[in-house]
Amino acid sequence: MSEASRLSVRGLTKRFGGLVAVKDIGFDIEAGEILGLIGPNGSGKSTVMKLIMGIERPNAGSVKVDGTEMAGWAPHRIARAGVGIVFQHSRPLHRQTVLEHIKLALLPDSLIKLVADPHVNRRAREIAERVELGAVMHRHPATLPFADLRRMEMAKAIARDPKVVLVDEPFAGLTLAESESFAALIRSFRAEGRAVLLVDHNVKSVAALVDRALAMYLGEQIAEGTAEQVMQNETVRRVYLGGKIETRERARSEVVSKPAILEVEDLGVLYGKARALDGVSLHVREGEFVSVVGLNGAGKTTLFNAISGFVPYQGAIRFGGQNLRGMSGAAIARAGVVQCPETRELFSDMTVRENLDLGGYHLAEAARSDQLTWLFELFPILKSRQRQTARTLSGGEQQMLAIARALMMQPRLLILDEPTLGLAPVILEQLSKALESLQRTTPITVLLGEQNVTFALPHADRVYVLEHGRIVWEGDPSSFEREMGRGYLETVPV
Ligand SMILES: Nc1ncnc2c1ncn2[C@@H]1O[C@H](COP(=O)(O)OP(=O)(O)OP(=O)(O)O)[C@@H](O)[C@H]1O
Ligand SMILES: [Mg+2]
Repeated sequence: MSEASRLSVRGLTKRFGGLVAVKDIGFDIEAGEILGLIGPNGSGKSTVMKLIMGIERPNAGSVKVDGTEMAGWAPHRIARAGVGIVFQHSRPLHRQTVLEHIKLALLPDSLIKLVADPHVNRRAREIAERVELGAVMHRHPATLPFADLRRMEMAKAIARDPKVVLVDEPFAGLTLAESESFAALIRSFRAEGRAVLLVDHNVKSVAALVDRALAMYLGEQIAEGTAEQVMQNETVRRVYLGGKIETRERARSEVVSKPAILEVEDLGVLYGKARALDGVSLHVREGEFVSVVGLNGAGKTTLFNAISGFVPYQGAIRFGGQNLRGMSGAAIARAGVVQCPETRELFSDMTVRENLDLGGYHLAEAARSDQLTWLFELFPILKSRQRQTARTLSGGEQQMLAIARALMMQPRLLILDEPTLGLAPVILEQLSKALESLQRTTPITVLLGEQNVTFALPHADRVYVLEHGRIVWEGDPSSFEREMGRGYLETVPV
């Protein structure tokens, strides 16, 4: 008999009611190898990971680690046998510090020994240093920035010293520098001889990291080979990568004559002593599409939260001529400013339909049903999942639902905060077309915050660049490339 692979998966299948989320998937990963798993939203990638980990029970198929069959085992047994997972969404315990989280992961079965053992303490600190959390290891997760939460998830996985690591979307929402340090961590897993299964939408990071790749679509395997071969595959290009987002030609004169609907003047926001925004002034005209481009931490979300009335600020914000200072978030929303937040904020125990109905509660029956029909054309997947609970949607499907719910409210000003997070390129293309048709057919105004310039530029009538809480550039998309230089384009993940 030939030697068994580190991880060997055969005929893996999972049904949710009538839906076959994973159908007859099979692959091998050797020790010291990284396999990339790509595919559009809802294709079953996260489910494959959950099946391997035992979080979901497969309906059929085999999962072997070093030749031992584990399909159908409980997750804790699979974990003890050497399989670790880094989830797409982290759910930290809020009472424990970062270091305590790592210690818990080091000794999941014997909590009592935890406090006493000096070795555990030392090992936990080493791991914290390794993932660059050394400086914040005594803090609670709620006070940490996004990238550090992801680092903590990595640390927990390392602590369990797994032979097989499953990593779901490690790069989503990270800056290029952060992505690079994560990529280095994942490479170190390989160097230590672990077998790694990696899912991510950032095609470039996947291609640069993996030894081989596998593409899925609607639960099925559609291509396998080197990252290069998989990305050249016709079907993959069609269902996942899509075409290029076309730059739209729109006469500037159409919008320059319109009055400003949103005016932000000399905006300043402080979080304690940290200055998140400093002297930010911008305006958005009626019917205009304005993109605010900036890396994570530049202040985009703070800017949007100030406009939506969620954080106190200095300076002035006017919408439709009305000063928004002192108005509650709810009153601002009623005035027509609707924000689709980065964190989605769905009602996770309600169904897709209930989430949408809540968005359209203020509409008359006929208007609501028209709006629903239109949204289902825009996002057909939501139509077929109307009765599914939001919590069980795939990452990308949740993002689509959040955008659809915001649109359901028929905003005068739609604020989209990083809508590209976790969405497959092909969905971004659809979303981009949808936004365009929305602008053609309705009086909607859009303010978009993005670090992904390939999505932010093609739509925009005007672009602002936000860096360290200040506006450093303003202009139209065509001069962005010329004036901000290719350098900026290359520093932003695609
Ligand atoms: N418990 C469940 N009940 C019903 N359907 C489910 C359940 N869990 C997952 N699904 C569906 O299975 C499909 C595959 O989901 P999965 O999360 O594996 O996709 P994914 O490839 O990870 O997508 P994304 O890239 O958007 O995260 C989705 O359409 C999802 O809605
Ligand atoms: Mg997923």
